[in-house]
Amino acid sequence: KIEKLLDEVQNLNAHNAEEIEALRLKYLSKKGEITTLMADFRNVPAEQKKEVGMRINELKQTAIERINALKEQFETTEGDGPAMDLTRSPYPIRLGTRHPLTIVTNEIIDIFSRMGFVLADGPEVEDDLHVFTKMNFAADHPARDMQDTFFVEQSQTGDVTKNMVLRSHTSSVQARFMENSQPPIRIIAPGRVYRNEAITARAHCFFHQVEGLYVDKNVSFTDLKQVLLSFAREMFGTDTKIRLRPSYFPFTEPSAEMDISCHICGGKGCGFCKHTGWVEILGCGMVDPNVLEQCGIDSKVYSGYAFGMGVERITNLKYQVSDLRMFSENDTRFLKEFEAAN
Ligand code: PHE
Repeated sequence: KIEKLLDEVQNLNAHNAEEIEALRLKYLSKKGEITTLMADFRNVPAEQKKEVGMRINELKQTAIERINALKEQFETTEGDGPAMDLTRSPYPIRLGTRHPLTIVTNEIIDIFSRMGFVLADGPEVEDDLHVFTKMNFAADHPARDMQDTFFVEQSQTGDVTKNMVLRSHTSSVQARFMENSQPPIRIIAPGRVYRNEAITARAHCFFHQVEGLYVDKNVSFTDLKQVLLSFAREMFGTDTKIRLRPSYFPFTEPSAEMDISCHICGGKGCGFCKHTGWVEILGCGMVDPNVLEQCGIDSKVYSGYAFGMGVERITNLKYQVSDLRMFSENDTRFLKEFEAAN
């Protein structure tokens, strides 16, 4: 009997706390099987008492240990299964994603780096001298007007060139770089710029530009065109075509605006390019000799080209984002859409 019970209690099992309690009652309570066995002990012949007593104690101890072990197991569990499932895969860790403007800026930098351009940088709070004067803006040029440019109030002086502004384009980096170096110069200047415009789907009070500048002997408009064509093809696909339209900037002469064949419809015409087959992406031109001279470079020896593009514009075209405000709202649902492009 003892041997049979011992075998039983060694293999006890339960699925919940009630079942454990039932086992405890069955074996260890006042009327439990083991307790009853112990009550019968006095009927055991004297010569067997020692042996049987040891066996019963062993049985009781085993039952207690087994039931306690079952209890312990269920104390750390919930319902029917263990609370901690060690076979479960870890929670997915949410990684941040790069901002679409960062992704596109990096891509632009990458493309021009491969063509030999190096990075240049300058301050966002800049003086008029570098934003306008050295860039050949006439003293009464409308871009100097309060309506376009944010002025830093405390710094307005009698000398217009000392006025501090939030730079309205990254061309100021051209001026700073040329002041401090001699050709050959081949730089790319990415950065944030500010303009006093009402915030709408199509305009913002700040946006991002990448500007390029190349100054050397015998730099020609053909060089400019080829570099821009290579860029357009790398950015928007190898069958992209470009088109240059005459334009005007104070710091370039001649100046042009560049369109690319619409990469959505392949130039056939769609709602995206307003059925013209072309979309504008940047301004460019040959550096005006006045700019070179103002920055300490001999315009009789050197010539150069410059171009500047809005990163938001490139991103809008590339990823078909229609509302500029999305870029600064930090809506993670929008940002997560660029996960694959990271
Ligand atoms: N600075 C011009 C702008 O902000 C862009 C540009 C740069 C045009 C260089 C020509 C050459 O619109």
